[in-house]
Amino acid sequence: MSAVRGEFSSRFGFIMAAAGSAVGLGNIWGFPTQTASNGGAAFLVAYLVLAFFLAYPALMAELMIGRHGQANAVVSLTKVSNKPWQKHFAFIVGFGGILCAGFILSFYAIVAGWMLSATAQPIATLAGADAASLWLSEQSLTRNIIFTLVFIVLTIAIISRGVENGIEKWSKRLMPALLGILFLLIAYVMTQEGAMEGLKAYLLPDFSSIFDTQLIVSALGQAFFSLSLGTSVMIIYGSYISKKENLVSLGAYVTLIDVFIAFVAGLLIIPAMYVAQAQGVEIFSASGKLLSEDTLVFQVLPALFDGMGSVGLFVGFAFFALMSIAALTSSISMLEAPVSYTVERFAMKRIQATWLIGVLIAVVSITIVCNLGTLFGLVITLTTKVAQPLLGLMCCIFVGWIWYRNSLLQAIQEGNPEVHNTLFWKVWPWYTKFVCPIVIGAVFVHSILS
Ligand code: PHE
Repeated sequence: MSAVRGEFSSRFGFIMAAAGSAVGLGNIWGFPTQTASNGGAAFLVAYLVLAFFLAYPALMAELMIGRHGQANAVVSLTKVSNKPWQKHFAFIVGFGGILCAGFILSFYAIVAGWMLSATAQPIATLAGADAASLWLSEQSLTRNIIFTLVFIVLTIAIISRGVENGIEKWSKRLMPALLGILFLLIAYVMTQEGAMEGLKAYLLPDFSSIFDTQLIVSALGQAFFSLSLGTSVMIIYGSYISKKENLVSLGAYVTLIDVFIAFVAGLLIIPAMYVAQAQGVEIFSASGKLLSEDTLVFQVLPALFDGMGSVGLFVGFAFFALMSIAALTSSISMLEAPVSYTVERFAMKRIQATWLIGVLIAVVSITIVCNLGTLFGLVITLTTKVAQPLLGLMCCIFVGWIWYRNSLLQAIQEGNPEVHNTLFWKVWPWYTKFVCPIVIGAVFVHSILS
């Protein structure tokens, strides 16, 4: 083992870091887009139910395993295993999660790179550099490669500093900034024509579509992606929490913040879409289907900002800076998963491990950038729709079926001596044992079949 392990220095620090991991492009870009293309408010309702009733218990499983193990995901999972086959299984799940985190980072860095170039573009316009501004706003191989690499280097710079000075310090700064910018933008959008129509589409559910299976599959995937589950990220963040802390409430805070920010982001993006529509931007096809899902943010929003005149340059800058910040607090958690493993497994220095893995991920990213049409969607589907739900399910199986019950109950009590008076104590252990694996499994099988 290498030197002393890092630990979050405060409750607030942990909550900001874990919420920082959870809150990202998934909330501000993915959630509103999915909501708009899956029946508006009905999707919101399904998402809320699944986030609290499936994703939160699964998050607790991962945090609990990590806090108990006080080590990287592979070692933490091995510590709750008893028989040799369980230890092999622990390696597969832990290492699988680490790989999954690395591959997620490799596509995430590309989208985050788009966000960075969209942040730089209004600055170029303000400076009168029209050619640069045009270059920044158009998709091109060189632009994508440069900004993907810039984003990965930013992520490496933070992670090489470790837990307290890197992850915790930057999450505490970036997360509140993000919330502030989000609220300012909502206040602005609400004053625009068309915003109220968007608000209605977002908040008044059409209950007839709520049991649509496709909607439920998407909502569960969104909830898992958003809480960073099945990537060993929450196991490793759990391992940096002191045994004196009340994990049950920490996990609940993280879930609440994540869901709250997704909800708030919806309050911004969905009305903004309708505002853009009122200004003549085409968003929905004649049949009511959302056009250009993936690139919605890059088409609709710049059009909206243009309509604001010169103020739009500042608003555009603020918005995309916000997206970049949200992406960064998530990407650092993705990089931490493989780095913590390498540091502990091979007794490597943190800085070396960070650069080594950062470069590997950059190579994968660049390969994807060069084959955007074929690889981008494929990597997203394999990681978020297959690996994440499966690995999240496995973690529930570890907690429910492999971890010795007495040791598990002890782990729940740590930092929370009064827990046996709570609903969590009575419900969570059997809920994670039966309900989570069955429901996640059913949704997974369904998504594969369809
Ligand atoms: N939860 C992050 C988001 O919503 C993405 C993420 C996935 C982060 C997996 C870490 C691990 O953007």
